[in-house]
Amino acid sequence: MSPLKRITMPMHRYGDPDFDREYLNWGLHSPHVQKAEAESLLGLIDAQEPVRILDLACGVGTHAIVWAGKGFEVTGVDLSDTFITTAKDNARQKGVNASFIVSDIRDVKYEAEFDVVTWIERSFFEANLVEVVWRSLHPEGRFIFDDRNPENPKVRARQRNWRTWREANGKFHLERHETNAETGLHEDAWITIDPQAETIEEKVGTAKAQTMQERIAILEQVGFRDVELKTMEGKTFSGGPEPSWLWVVARK
Ligand SMILES: C[S@@+](CC[C@H](N)C(=O)[O-])C[C@H]1O[C@@H](n2cnc3c(N)ncnc32)[C@H](O)[C@@H]1O
Repeated sequence: MSPLKRITMPMHRYGDPDFDREYLNWGLHSPHVQKAEAESLLGLIDAQEPVRILDLACGVGTHAIVWAGKGFEVTGVDLSDTFITTAKDNARQKGVNASFIVSDIRDVKYEAEFDVVTWIERSFFEANLVEVVWRSLHPEGRFIFDDRNPENPKVRARQRNWRTWREANGKFHLERHETNAETGLHEDAWITIDPQAETIEEKVGTAKAQTMQERIAILEQVGFRDVELKTMEGKTFSGGPEPSWLWVVARK
């Protein structure tokens, strides 16, 4: 019997058209949830007059289109040509005016042009990107992103080391989520064993394990102040296991 062929690839290949087209089927929150997120964020801004919003890693632009539809001046930036093309098509269909630009966040070069910078469902968080946000904002501007409540039991369970598997249509789907205590690297691996195709497909994402407190420390190190946690309903969060999902709001 020949051994199964092992295929290993990174979990996320944003910007790769094949990956991005497939990702549209499973990767994003549903438009219904995204619209609720967009409305919730407007509650945090409570703007008396239209403000300029930069939406980093905007995906297919659902949040940006909601804001633009309410008269905000919105620019969405994303690495993926596929997502930005879809965002432009969606905006055109809805008859709203928003700018969508293909760019890596790392290459964004705005200088004090925005009142609000958002980064929703981000897949990483680094000091050099927070510096990009800092530069893009007006003095007093706000940086808003979402984060998981570290005290929520489901969030805590997911952050522990865990493994699971299931069988569907003759294929075996395995998951491994583990932090290496020595390197501090967290690895997420999704493995599909397909006995008929004789393949083992392994998708792996590795990132430095980072807590919400460490992200807040990065914000403060870059210069942000008045960091607040807010619920989806716009209430100040002062601790506890609920809700699982929070906004982090920081002022330049
Ligand atoms: C989980 S999706 C979230 C998309 C959108 N913010 C939303 O909530 O629907 C992550 C997004 O980050 C984008 N992305 C990943 N790395 C990026 C980078 N270095 N620069 C710009 N966009 C990036 C991906 O193309 C993808 O659209």
